[in-house]
Amino acid sequence: MIKYLDLKRINDMHDAELRQAVSHVFDSGWYLKGEATRQFEQHYAEYIGTRHCIGCGNGLDALTLILRGYIELGVMVPGDEVIVPATTFIASILAITDCGLRPVLVDASPDTLQIDDSLIEAAITPRTRALMIVHLYGRCAYTDRVGELCKQHGLLLIEDNAQAHGCIVNSSLFTLHASLTKTGSLGHAAAHSFYPTKNLGAMGDAGAVTTDDDRLADVIRTIANYGSAQKYVFDYIGRNSRIDELQAAILDAKLQRLDKDNRRRKEIAAIYINKVNNPLIRIPLSDRDSVWHIFPVLCEKRDALQQYLLQNGIETQVHYPIPPHRQRCYAQWNHLSFPVTEQIALQELSLPCHQALTNDEVTYIAELLNAFG
Ligand SMILES: Cc1ncc(COP(=O)(O)O)c(C=O)c1O
Repeated sequence: MIKYLDLKRINDMHDAELRQAVSHVFDSGWYLKGEATRQFEQHYAEYIGTRHCIGCGNGLDALTLILRGYIELGVMVPGDEVIVPATTFIASILAITDCGLRPVLVDASPDTLQIDDSLIEAAITPRTRALMIVHLYGRCAYTDRVGELCKQHGLLLIEDNAQAHGCIVNSSLFTLHASLTKTGSLGHAAAHSFYPTKNLGAMGDAGAVTTDDDRLADVIRTIANYGSAQKYVFDYIGRNSRIDELQAAILDAKLQRLDKDNRRRKEIAAIYINKVNNPLIRIPLSDRDSVWHIFPVLCEKRDALQQYLLQNGIETQVHYPIPPHRQRCYAQWNHLSFPVTEQIALQELSLPCHQALTNDEVTYIAELLNAFG
């Protein structure tokens, strides 16, 4: 059986560093807001290329803290609109509604499976304050059009970078970015999830915000600490959202290997791209600007393909079978139609794609895909 994601196998590749990191925290006797957190925040900010990194409890908190931060700074007020792709994991949208803001969903492009930038302008109203792009599947969702629209309409650009740690943007393709840049540094603020399955995955929950905005960084740190910058003095109705020392130390150790791990994911994706040749299976994404958190294929007989692969010992997943606007929790949008998003939900299948896979395993999966009919 080839598992979709084998976290034991992945973390075994870092065994010595991880054990050392954990035992360092264990010996320190300091479990929250200590040296490991400071080190990781500093290293991750340097890695992403931003002035600040604020560790927090998880990726959903990171998104929510950014929006709450803007509300506390008076940049947004509840009821303002945030444009967001209809094709995303529900957390991108939960953060918006949790802050009393209004998500305005925009359909995906069939070519990139990301927000269709040609549809964004029509969604902008006088209440629009921000555009949230989601680097879904590990592929950069930023485009020149996204940058231009934010500039023209004075919108904040927020990145959901939960799935794209380490994704380097080929900025020669963009007129608004002069030098090589990573996702997480392209907009005004970015949220990162370090859920264990992510390219940079903790051994538990963790997340972070990256930003160059000093005021936003300060307010987020304060909100995440019960709303307090000074002990027992509360400026905001805050929350408790912290990264713990163990997770910070683990992430700091794994960060050293992230580029290498991402290069291996690219090699695996290249095998699929070069070897899979079956008219029933479409590989929608090229190797441009992606760290392949997920390797998606589209197939009209998706469920049959998934079953066939499972019978042949290959585990796959679907990201995501029900789009947010069709979920019960958002019943008010159930009548809306986003045809590309709905098609992706029906046809998408995620193949195993992680750094611990061998070439033989990936070639075997590609050959099975070619024999599907
Ligand atoms: C695109 C996206 N946004 C946000 C999240 C939320 O992150 P977390 O699970 O750490 O809360 C995730 C992952 O779970 C995600 O894939």
